[in-house]
Amino acid sequence: MHTTPTSRTERHLSTNVLVIGTGGAGLRASIELAERGMQVLAVGKRRAHDAHTTLAAGGINAALGTMDPEDSWQQHAADTLRESYFLADPAIVEVVARGAAQGIEDLERWGMPFAREADGRISQRFFGAHTYRRTAYAGDYTGLEIQRTLLRRARELQVPIIDTVYITRLLEVGGRIFGAYGFDIVDGTPVVIHADAVILAAGGHTRIWRNTSSRRNENTGDAFRLAALAGAKIRDAELVQFHPSGLLEPTEAAGTLVSEAARGEGGVLRNALGERFMEKYDPERMELSTRDRVALASYTEIAEGRGTANGGVLLDVSHLPREVIFDKLPRVYRNLIDLQMLDITEQPIEIAPTAHYSMGGVWVRPEDHGMGVAGLYAIGEASSGLHGANRLGGNSLIELLVYGRITGADAADYVTGLTSVRRDPGAVAEAREEMQALLGSGSASSNAEASGSGSGLPARPESARLLQRALRNLMTAHAGVVRDEAGLTVGLEKLADLDERASRLAVHPDIAGFDDLAHAYDLKGSLLAARATLESALERRETRGCHNRSDFPEQSDALQGNMLWDTERGVRFEPATVAPEAFRALAEAHLDDSVDGKLVE
Ligand code: FUM
Repeated sequence: MHTTPTSRTERHLSTNVLVIGTGGAGLRASIELAERGMQVLAVGKRRAHDAHTTLAAGGINAALGTMDPEDSWQQHAADTLRESYFLADPAIVEVVARGAAQGIEDLERWGMPFAREADGRISQRFFGAHTYRRTAYAGDYTGLEIQRTLLRRARELQVPIIDTVYITRLLEVGGRIFGAYGFDIVDGTPVVIHADAVILAAGGHTRIWRNTSSRRNENTGDAFRLAALAGAKIRDAELVQFHPSGLLEPTEAAGTLVSEAARGEGGVLRNALGERFMEKYDPERMELSTRDRVALASYTEIAEGRGTANGGVLLDVSHLPREVIFDKLPRVYRNLIDLQMLDITEQPIEIAPTAHYSMGGVWVRPEDHGMGVAGLYAIGEASSGLHGANRLGGNSLIELLVYGRITGADAADYVTGLTSVRRDPGAVAEAREEMQALLGSGSASSNAEASGSGSGLPARPESARLLQRALRNLMTAHAGVVRDEAGLTVGLEKLADLDERASRLAVHPDIAGFDDLAHAYDLKGSLLAARATLESALERRETRGCHNRSDFPEQSDALQGNMLWDTERGVRFEPATVAPEAFRALAEAHLDDSVDGKLVE
C-alpha cells in the first residue's frame, strides 16, 4: 500500500537562512550569503537547472554605455520610473539602476558568456521604450545563461540546494519568522525547516491566465499566498504585464514567449490584412513602443476583426539576414521549428498577447526588501516596487541580481545580530494539519461520494488540475488585457464558486510521486492571487499602463499610487511616493502618458 505523508516521520532541517526558490533571485541571494560565510539552504519545487529564469530571453539592462556612451544610470532610472507610469517606488528604481553595472560585473566574473562586439565590448541591444541601447544579452538565451552561471557559482560555494521541496507555509510567531513547512514532491516526506531568516524568491502569478509564458507549475501565486498568510501585503496584484508576443499553437504551449529581441532586431508586426498596424498606435516607436501599447495594439487588431483566423497577428522576421536570426534569435528559431515546424527565416509567426510578468507582488521596503515581518524578505518576481504599471523589458533580470545581493547581505546581518530565537509548535501544527487534511481528502471525499453526505446529494470530489483550468478561463475572460466593472464583478462571483469547490479537493498521491499534492497547493496560491488581482483591479478605476479599464478609459491623477491587499482588510489605496525633482524632470522629458490610440471598446 502507498504510504501517505500523514504516516511518515517529518524530516527536520535547520539553517541560518532559508531561500525559497532556486531561480536567479534565489541563487543570487544564496551566493551572497555563502560568500559571507552564512549557512544557507535553497529549496525549490522544480529542478534548479530548469527554473523559470531560464525562460527569460532577450536581455538584462544596465547603463554600461558600451554602444551609446551618453547613457547613464540616471537615465535608466528615469526610463524605468516613466514607464512605470510613476507607480514605481523611486528608491527601489534608484537602487536597481545604480547597482546594475555591478550586477553585470558579478556575472562576468563568474563566467557569463555575454554577446560581445568585435573589440570585446559587451554588446547591448535596443529593447522597447529605453532611451538608449542598454540591454546586454546572450542570443535569446540570456536567462538560461544567467541561471547556468549562478548555479555554477553556487556549486563552487557548496550551497546546498534541494529542488524537490514544496513549501506550503511560512512559520512565524510574534511578527518574526522562524522557518517553513513543506513536503518532498518525490516521496512525500513532510519537511520542517527551522531558519532564522527566510528569503522568498518563489515567483509571481501569471500562470493563472490561459495564455501565459510560464509553464504548468510555475508562477502559480505561491509567493503571494505564503507571504500573505504570514502577514505581508500584496501591492498592485492587478498590474500584470501582457507581453505582445506569445505563440497561439500548439494549445498545450499557448503563450510561449517569442522574445522582444525579435522586434529589437527589426521584426515587424502585421495584421491579417497585411497592414503594419503599429503605424496607427505609435508611429514614432512602431514595434519598439512600450510593451503595454504593443500588447494592446495587437489585442485591438484582433478584437476589431483584423486578426488571423486563429485570433492572432503576425510577427515577421523573414526579411532579416539568416545569420542575424541564427545569431540573435536562436531560441525563437528553434522553438518554432520544434513546436510548429515553421521556419521563421521564411514565414511570419502567429502571435497574441500572453500573460508574462507580475509587476505587482509582495510589498517590500526599498532598503532591504524586507516585508515588515522580522527576518522575512521577498525578491525577484515575488516582490514589487520596480515596475509599476509597465515594466521595461530586461529590468527583471537586473533587479534579481541587484536585490539578490542586497537582500542576502541584509539577511546575513540580521541573523548575525539575533540574540534569541523563538519558535512556535502551534504554527508547525497548523501547517501539518493543513497538509494532513488535504491528504485525507482523497479517501474522505470518495467515502462521502459513495455514501452521500446526508443532504441527499453526493459531495463531489474536485480535481486541482481541473479547477486550475477553470480559474485560468475565468481570469482570461474577466481580467485580461481589457477589463471593466461588470466583468470583474462576475469574475469575483465565479471565484467564490471555485473557492467553494476547492474546499472539496481530492488529493491522490500515487506511485509516481506527490505532484497531486503540489497541484493542490498551487491551486491554493492561485485562488488567493486571483482574489487579490480581481479585487485590486476593481478598485483601480482608471486606465494606466497594462491596466485597461474600458469603463474608465482615462488615467486618474487621484489614483497615482498603489493598491495594497491583505487577507484581513482586502484592498486599500496608498498614494505613490513622489520621486526627487531632478529624477522626475529627467523622466518627464520623454513623457508620453496619453491614452490616445489605446482603448477600443
Ligand atoms: O521578450 C523578452 O525577451 C522578454 C524579456 C523580459 O521580459 O525582460
